[in-house]
Amino acid sequence: MPRLLVLADLHLDKWTAARRIPLALMPTGSFDQFDMVILAGDVVDKPKVRLAPALGQIGRYIPLDRVQVFPGNHCFYDHVLDGEDRLAQIVTTAGAHYAQCRSLTLGQARILCCTLWTDLIHPTIHPDIIAADLERGMNDYRYIRIAGSGYRRATPGRTRAIHQQHLAWLRGELTRPHDGPTIVVTHHAPILDQLGTTGTLRHAYGSDLTGFISEMRPSCWLYGHTH
Ligand SMILES: [Fe+2]
Repeated sequence: MPRLLVLADLHLDKWTAARRIPLALMPTGSFDQFDMVILAGDVVDKPKVRLAPALGQIGRYIPLDRVQVFPGNHCFYDHVLDGEDRLAQIVTTAGAHYAQCRSLTLGQARILCCTLWTDLIHPTIHPDIIAADLERGMNDYRYIRIAGSGYRRATPGRTRAIHQQHLAWLRGELTRPHDGPTIVVTHHAPILDQLGTTGTLRHAYGSDLTGFISEMRPSCWLYGHTH
């Protein structure tokens, strides 16, 4: 049976700065058993400079032709939300695969990958108040820019719009019949409880998609970002 490994939030630039290589701590051959490895976001900050070296480091332990990559929020730091073509180019030039909004096949399993972002929906607090808190409190809205229609800071409204696009893509894929398990892999969480963050800032980490999950019934949903 084919085997899948999902890793998120490696933050390899932080480890490199600390002169540590986390993958080297694994016993030799640890990754040989996996037919597919998905890096579900936050491989590094500043991807235009740091992503290619990080993938080179990963490639010493995991054959990159088995590696699927899609971005987390940190993968847009010092970059632009509408710059995924550049991320895809860096990933594919390194020899890995870019998996944003892609349906992958592994044996009988269908694997749906996307960043997801968050919906800012709270049962009693208006989304504009949530957005203002995130803009004040989250580095995402300090270090990520938007290039199109005038260069400017990313906003929670813009990431919410991308969330809506990604959720619509997931709905479309999950509506397609599939004879086998369907695994959803996202960077942001599809739940709001158990996030380890309280107050309005937890709306930068996840969304309450329990209704969506009950309706669409994927076999499982794996996510990162909540460390
Ligand atoms: Fe993240």
